[in-house]
Amino acid sequence: MNRNDAQKTPATFHVKSFGCQMNVYDGERMAEMLGTRGMTPAAEGAEADLVILNTCHIREKAVDKVYSDIGRLTREDGTRPMIAVAGCVAQAEGGEIQRRARNVDIVVGPQAYHRLPDLIDKAGRGEEAVDTDMPLASKFGALPARTRQARPTAFLTIMEGCDKFCTYCVVPYTRGAEISRSWSAILDEAKALVDGGVREITLLGQNVNAWTGEDDKGRTQGMDGLARELAKISDLKRIRYTTSHPNDMSDGLIAAHGDEPKLMPFLHLPVQSGNDRILKAMNRSHSVDSYLRIIERVREARPDIALSGDFIVGFPGESDAEFEDTLKIVDQVRYAQCYSFKYSPRPGTPAADMDHQIPAEVMDERLARLQALINQHQVTFNAATVGRTTDILLERKGRHPGQLIGKSPWLQSVVVTAPELAIGDMIDVDIISAGPNSLAGELSRRKAA
Ligand code: SAH
Ligand code: SF4
Ligand code: F3S
Repeated sequence: MNRNDAQKTPATFHVKSFGCQMNVYDGERMAEMLGTRGMTPAAEGAEADLVILNTCHIREKAVDKVYSDIGRLTREDGTRPMIAVAGCVAQAEGGEIQRRARNVDIVVGPQAYHRLPDLIDKAGRGEEAVDTDMPLASKFGALPARTRQARPTAFLTIMEGCDKFCTYCVVPYTRGAEISRSWSAILDEAKALVDGGVREITLLGQNVNAWTGEDDKGRTQGMDGLARELAKISDLKRIRYTTSHPNDMSDGLIAAHGDEPKLMPFLHLPVQSGNDRILKAMNRSHSVDSYLRIIERVREARPDIALSGDFIVGFPGESDAEFEDTLKIVDQVRYAQCYSFKYSPRPGTPAADMDHQIPAEVMDERLARLQALINQHQVTFNAATVGRTTDILLERKGRHPGQLIGKSPWLQSVVVTAPELAIGDMIDVDIISAGPNSLAGELSRRKAA
C-alpha cells in the first residue's frame, strides 16, 4: 500500500492520543511543534497527510486498538497518510510494530518526540524512522514555547517516569525513571499558559507528588512548594495535580490542602486493592492501614476534599475474600469517583508470570460488583452537593443552546444555562440537582463559601 507523493512532505497532520492525561499533554506539544514548523492540523485523521497515533500500553485492549486504527487509515482509493506511532506502545514494541504493521512509517517513543521533524523528513525520503531513545537531555528544552490555548484549562507535565515498579505495570519501562522538570521551566510554562488565557492548570506526572527540585534561591522544594509558588500567578485561579502515589503524600502537601485556596479540594490517590497480601504481591509498598491514615490526615486538613482512586480486580491469586476487602475499602473511603480495571497481564512484568491467573468470568463479575458500589458512592457524593453554592470554571458548551458546562472544585461537571456568559468565566452557582455523572446549577446571588 502506497502513500501519496504529497505525503512525502506532509503539510497537514492529525494527532490522536490514547491513554492517560500525559499523552494528551504530549499530543498537544507535538501539535504545537508541528504548527511552528508550518504544518496545519486536520480535523479528520484520514484527510491528514500525517497521522500520529499517540498510544497507550497499559492494558492489552489499549494496544489492540492501535493495530486496528492503523488498518482503518487506508482511504477508499487505496492511498493512506504517513503514519507515526508515538507514545508508550512505540516505546515498548518499537520493532514489533513495524513487523506487524508494515504501514507504519515512524516509530517515536515518549522521550524522543522532539525529534519528530527529523523523523518526518527521513520517512519522506523512504528511510527507516525509529527513535525510542531515552536521551539524558530532556525533550522539554528542545520543544517550542507554549502557544495560546483554546481552552481555559491546561495540563502541565512537571515530572515523568516511575521508579516504583508495581508488579503489574509497564509504565516504568515505557516512561523511564522518575525525572523532575526544573522549577523555572515549570513556572515559565505556567506563566505562558496563563498569559494565553488558561485559568486552571493540572500538574501531571506518573507520580506527580514525587516532584522535587530547587527553587530560585537554591532551597529544596517538593510539589507543595511548587504549588504555592504557582498560586502566586494572579490570573491562575485553580491548581490540580495527578496522579499521586500514597508514599509521596508529604506532610507539606497535606498541609497545603488546608491553607492554599487555589489548590482544589480533589485528590486522586490510587490504592489498587483493599487487601494487604495483594498489595504486597503488587509491590505497592503501602498497606491498607497506612493508606487510610493518609486519607484521614488529608480530610483533617481539608474536610470537604473529594477522593478518587484506581482499582485492579483479579490480580493473580486474588481470592474471593481478598476481593471483598477491596469493596470494604471503597465503603470506608467513600470515594467521589474511581477508575477500576480488570487485571491485564503485560509482557515483561513480574505479575504476568505469576501462578493462579484469574479466569475472565471471575474478573467480569468482580468488576461489575466493584463498579456498582463505586457508582453508588459517586451518586451519594454528588447528591450531597445539592443546595451548596460553589464556583465553577466554564470549560465548554453544553448540548442545548445557551448551555455551558464547568467544573466544580470537586471535579464534577456542572451544567448551567447562561447565554450571557462565556467559556473561561468563573461564576458562582447554586447546585440544584445531581445525577450520577453531572450536576445542574443556577447562577447564584450568593458568593461561594
Ligand atoms: N501512576 C499512577 C497510574 C498509572 S496507570 C499510579 O500509580 O497510580 C493507571 C492505572 O491503570 C493504575 O492505577 C492501575 O489501576 C491501572 N493499571 C496499570 N497496569 C495495569 C494492568 N496491568 N492491568 C490492569 N490495570 C492496570
Ligand atoms: Fe505503574 Fe505503580 Fe508506577 Fe503507578 S506507581 S506508574 S501503577 S509502577
Ligand atoms: Fe498509557 Fe503510557 Fe500513560 S502506558 S497510561 S500512555 S504512561
